[in-house]
Amino acid sequence: MAQQEDNLLKKIISHAKEYGFIFPSSEIYDGLAAAYDYGQNGVELKNNIKAYWWKAMVQLHENIVGIDASIFMHPTTWKASGHVDAFNDPMIDNKDSKKRYRADVLIEDHIAKIEAKIAKEVSKAAKRFGDSFDKDQFVATNQRVLGYSEQIDSINNQMKTAIESDNLSDLKTLIEELGIADPVSGSKNWTDVRQFNLMFSTELGSLAEGANKIYLRPETAQGIFVNFLNVQKSGRMKIPFGIAQIGKAFRNEIIARQFIFRMREFEQMEMQFFVKPGEEIEWYDRWKENRIKWHKILGLGEENYRFHDHLNLAHYANAACDIEFNFPMGFKELEGIHSRTDFDLKAHEEHSGKKLQFFDPQENKNYVPYVVETSIGLDRMFLAIMSASYVEETLEDGSERTVMKIPAALAPYKVAVLPLVKKDGLPEKAREIIDELKLDFNCQYDEKDAIGKRYRRQDAIGTPYAVTVDHQTLEDNTVTLRDRDSSNQERIDISTLRSRVSELVSITRLLKQL
Ligand code: GAP
Repeated sequence: MAQQEDNLLKKIISHAKEYGFIFPSSEIYDGLAAAYDYGQNGVELKNNIKAYWWKAMVQLHENIVGIDASIFMHPTTWKASGHVDAFNDPMIDNKDSKKRYRADVLIEDHIAKIEAKIAKEVSKAAKRFGDSFDKDQFVATNQRVLGYSEQIDSINNQMKTAIESDNLSDLKTLIEELGIADPVSGSKNWTDVRQFNLMFSTELGSLAEGANKIYLRPETAQGIFVNFLNVQKSGRMKIPFGIAQIGKAFRNEIIARQFIFRMREFEQMEMQFFVKPGEEIEWYDRWKENRIKWHKILGLGEENYRFHDHLNLAHYANAACDIEFNFPMGFKELEGIHSRTDFDLKAHEEHSGKKLQFFDPQENKNYVPYVVETSIGLDRMFLAIMSASYVEETLEDGSERTVMKIPAALAPYKVAVLPLVKKDGLPEKAREIIDELKLDFNCQYDEKDAIGKRYRRQDAIGTPYAVTVDHQTLEDNTVTLRDRDSSNQERIDISTLRSRVSELVSITRLLKQL
């Protein structure tokens, strides 16, 4: 990770803690790796992200409904879904540092280094040739770049073959042949590669009753699949229709790192869209378009998103891609969109012995629907927003501020109401205003310290608007409304405050653009 990017992530982590967004879990006991608690501002931002997603999915689509399934499910669920047998990561330990790594990630990091060499050649050539530089032609013809590309293809092929054939010793050989060293210790003293299942398990009931091993769900999707028929029948749903869910998922990630990017306990927002077989690719394309729009409307910068189409598809998928976001550590997966065929429903039919089919009146026959899923990590979305919103800037008067330019509709607090001074009836007037506004918005009241300092505090938690109550307010019932991003202030009548703020901060404004 480049130094600058590393610094940005560190700054975000420390800002998140200082301003009540995210705390390390059980910190008084020195914390627990890869577990985090959302603080008073974090929970509000998280709830607003959920609301934006839920409304975009459920409220805006007549044919999508939501559920909230339990985290514990019958153990056979995970046999049917393939998680018991195949939800594994190939792990390798370094004997000197005692650190454990995902073998494929070590290889991918090695590939990223070769890609960086290509990028360096390209940028050198771009400087040399100036305006006449044709990147595509350069990449297709430059011998050095072609050599690097060949290396990447060859490594990718070897890795793919080893993983697909479950040949762990070939994976180790590849790591050795590439001369990959432990990023921490520099040592090349590796153990063999072993498979490591990512599901957490626990026991249901007391031992006396005959304990039964059950799992903490590693994805929320299976709660939707097993309820397909319940929802379809009770909601009289017709294909195509979708089921949406937001909830916790658990994975025993070996290398949980990069703050809330990879956690062991996290939240997913998933939607399974059930379609007629044969129509899945059309729906897959439509959902790709819908989801990228949902992201871009937030205004975090269109250049920060890109699609990554999967070339190596899982055996049950016939199309899949990620929406990647430009996190402080580079472009990484934020959301997955997968065309999963009828794999899951068929597997549950086989394991449960129950039919999970839809009677299509137009076709006059039963079939197992195909599924297109959209699956986004709530915590990753949170990190995307935090990283794109964090800005350090110098204002016109030369003062410095750290401001979280969080999209107004998602900001933890919408308005801060600030009496200019703590006397002359201004606090009472400010309280009157807050009592009115708090019925609709999360508001903050702050009367301590100079007004500039109070603006800085609101900037730091991303409050998009500050209302200042001054002596003129008592005379003509007007206040100043300050915009967080521009620091501009305008004087407006108190009677228009509610509708004005509502227009600026509502999720509705975002939804209208979808
Ligand atoms: N049902 C499909 C599924 O679970 P996935 O790609 O494994 O697909 C979907 O996960 C999304 O969940 C990812 O795009 C990511 O945003 C989030 N996610 C997965 N593992 C995570 C982890 N350990 N910590 C935080 N978010 C995670």
